[in-house]
Amino acid sequence: MNWQLAKPAGPDAAMDTKFLQFPVDRLIDNSITDFDLFAHVGTHVILYSGTGYKWMRSELNGLLNHGYRHLYIRPEDTSKAAIYEKMAKLPELAKTLKPEDRLQKIQDIGATFSRYLFEGDITESTVRKASELATNIVECIQEDRRCIASISGLASHDMYTYLHSIRVAAYATAIALQMGVTDSESLKMIALGGIFHDVGKTAIPLEVINKNGPLLEAEWLLMKSHPAQGLEKIADSCLHQVCREIVVHHHERLNGSGYPHGLTKDSLLPEVQIATLADVFDALTSSRSYQNKRSRFEALDFIRHRLLRTDIAVDPFKALVECLVK
Ligand SMILES: [Fe+2]
Ligand SMILES: [Fe+2]
Repeated sequence: MNWQLAKPAGPDAAMDTKFLQFPVDRLIDNSITDFDLFAHVGTHVILYSGTGYKWMRSELNGLLNHGYRHLYIRPEDTSKAAIYEKMAKLPELAKTLKPEDRLQKIQDIGATFSRYLFEGDITESTVRKASELATNIVECIQEDRRCIASISGLASHDMYTYLHSIRVAAYATAIALQMGVTDSESLKMIALGGIFHDVGKTAIPLEVINKNGPLLEAEWLLMKSHPAQGLEKIADSCLHQVCREIVVHHHERLNGSGYPHGLTKDSLLPEVQIATLADVFDALTSSRSYQNKRSRFEALDFIRHRLLRTDIAVDPFKALVECLVK
């Protein structure tokens, strides 16, 4: 779009009822807007940029230099615009860091991302940011799969929910790679499944999620609804079927004792079985409930003796041990 076409118009009451102002200085270099932006030129409102438009600093400066302080959005796009701003402001990852430091940074960015995920809808901006995080996780682990050993389950109680998904994504990616999945796209699907696996918890009050102590029956039922709620939440997104399977089936168990569908081993995708192990392992090694936090080795031992073959599949378990113990 050529911003030199015409001078911007002044404020217009009729315009303000149909559109909302969006300050140009809130558009971020190298970001993509997933909503239409309009310009007020002379007596006309024109579509300036359609959804999927990529912004560069030079164009933003050009707009500002030519007096375009604001563009306009449709009122129904307010929430998308707010999420765009949050996602676009998340820091970029410095690729020069070594894998374990990079993974640490990914966790920090991922925690903020997950908090935003809990606060808003899933939009194209959200999925784009999640894909970027997943790609970073895959690259890190492809470089050194044992960098997952540097992941610490330590986090404040409230932060558990936000950090957990990124850790699950990292563990699941490392397990899959160790099992021989080397294709970056397939690994990315698994990482994305990890990032979104608990997205259904956004529908459950944080007091229930973070409750310190046993859940009441009604609270437990609510918690158990999160896989189905998650699937509903990502229904309209472009996320791959593997991610959807991980979201809805990560609490299934090999012997059929899991939820929501009581599926057994043969009906569960290998990717789901991997994510389930990653989820359980992170829950066991995290400080969600301090008295139950286990060391990495205690957690592996617990899985080996209590969950293997009934709940957790053998192959991913062996792969996780190899990643952590070698
Ligand atoms: Fe879950
Ligand atoms: Fe989980």
